[in-house]
Amino acid sequence: MKSKTSNKIVDLVIFFSVSVIGIVVIAIFTQTFRNPFAVILAILIIIPTVIAMVTGAPFVPTPMPRVKKMLQLAKIKKGEKVYDIGCGDGRMVYLAAKEYGANAVGFELSPLVFLLAKVRQFFWRSKAKIFFTDFRAQNLGDADVIVCYLMPDSLARLQEKLDKELKKGTRVVSYAFSIGTWKVNHREERDKENNLAPIWVYER
Ligand SMILES: C[S@@+](CC[C@H](N)C(=O)[O-])C[C@H]1O[C@@H](n2cnc3c(N)ncnc32)[C@H](O)[C@@H]1O
Repeated sequence: MKSKTSNKIVDLVIFFSVSVIGIVVIAIFTQTFRNPFAVILAILIIIPTVIAMVTGAPFVPTPMPRVKKMLQLAKIKKGEKVYDIGCGDGRMVYLAAKEYGANAVGFELSPLVFLLAKVRQFFWRSKAKIFFTDFRAQNLGDADVIVCYLMPDSLARLQEKLDKELKKGTRVVSYAFSIGTWKVNHREERDKENNLAPIWVYER
């Protein structure tokens, strides 16, 4: 019970920290509008963040109990390639590498969130890789497992890419929302008591 509460507090702290940093950046942008470096910096931060919000989802971390459950449902074997497409603060890839010995890779397009993931990587001492890039530009064909927490529209658009690229047997585990018209292999029901969303598990 204690760890559930502390996990929620950590999630909230992360969410608010990133929001505050974002607001500070925008404040710098508006107040120092005449400073070209501030303008360029703000543009470099804001544009990819907006693209990430529109093409995938805003940064909202998956609650830790759900991260653990998703990785368990993915049945990851040592050395398997695990991608988190839109990895946020990196929690899924760090845990996949630590607990399952996965070759875990995360893609993150929002610069501030990417920085947060890199800071967390230092504390986790994780060998997982985090790339500052748009997951839509990556070929995911060598994935054994894909984990994601994206908006329903983004998942529907992603379906075509995944259908083209994924090899047979790849497991795809999605938090909260189902993927387009795919037939689900397992659905972990909503945990109403702890306010946790469902998990959708697919095998291609
Ligand atoms: C809802 S959060 C989930 C974060 C993490 N996967 C988790 O479960 O805790 C979605 C993340 O995907 C990132 N994202 C959205 N679209 C993206 C894209 N096209 N390429 C890379 N990252 C993207 C967002 O910046 C955000 O951090």
